[in-house]
Amino acid sequence: MNGYRMNLAVLLLSGMLPAGISMAAAPETDGAATFAQRCVKCHSLEKVRTEIMKRPVAEREAHLKSFMQKHFPAPADSRAALLAYLVNTASR
Ligand code: HEC
Repeated sequence: MNGYRMNLAVLLLSGMLPAGISMAAAPETDGAATFAQRCVKCHSLEKVRTEIMKRPVAEREAHLKSFMQKHFPAPADSRAALLAYLVNTASR
């Protein structure tokens, strides 16, 4: 009885994995989309980029990570992609 339930759980979990992995695959696109949806109405990417670049490179990611937790936080599943997108944009 219990063995059957365990197998079912493993089957369900393994079926969910590929979807989770493919969602994390394109942080550039997802980050840009999140910025367009949630952030552009108040400031352009260029404006935000200028602010980010005022800080030393080594501090940017940590600063953004904590700043964005209080500043119109994006949904939990898109935060990492948005953060990576902003950090990359500022380092170009
Ligand atoms: C309702 C308006 C509004 C929205 C929505 C908004 N912002 Fe801002 N943001 C501001 C204002 C105003 C400032 C400048 C003043 C300040 O620093 O709070 C700012 C400043 C910033 C800064 C520079 C501040 C620093 O200290 O580095 C970053 C980075 C930033 N926003 C990111 C974002 C991101 C990412 C989003 C979307 C998830 C977002 N903002 C959504 C209004 C907004």
